[in-house]
Amino acid sequence: MHSPRQHADDPAPAYEVHVFCCVNQRPATHRRGCCASKGAQALADYMCRRGMVTLAQRAIRINVSGCLNMCEHGPAMVIYPEGVWYRYETEQDIAEILDRHVKRGERVQRLMIRDFSRVHR
Ligand code: FES
Repeated sequence: MHSPRQHADDPAPAYEVHVFCCVNQRPATHRRGCCASKGAQALADYMCRRGMVTLAQRAIRINVSGCLNMCEHGPAMVIYPEGVWYRYETEQDIAEILDRHVKRGERVQRLMIRDFSRVHR
């Protein structure tokens, strides 16, 4: 499926799957909180380590990122090209997302973020 924003002469995507996981840190008093205060850095480190082992030989990239604007749901990640969002709390959550969504193209319904009503536009 092609995005309506894709042009016929665009180069092929560099990655089959591109994952961004927020590790943004804010002061404890910030009204929106932050993913770092919920353990995002350690979980992102685990995600990168596990990804290197389980996704080797695939054109899959996992990047840490700044704020993805899903702070209230965090720790948050987004997976492209499909643009599906997840929240996660444990290494087991990450393993399930990597193994099922990223590796096999399935979905992890219980962890998907579906409420975008608090996204600041
Ligand atoms: S601080 Fe992580 S999404 Fe905003």
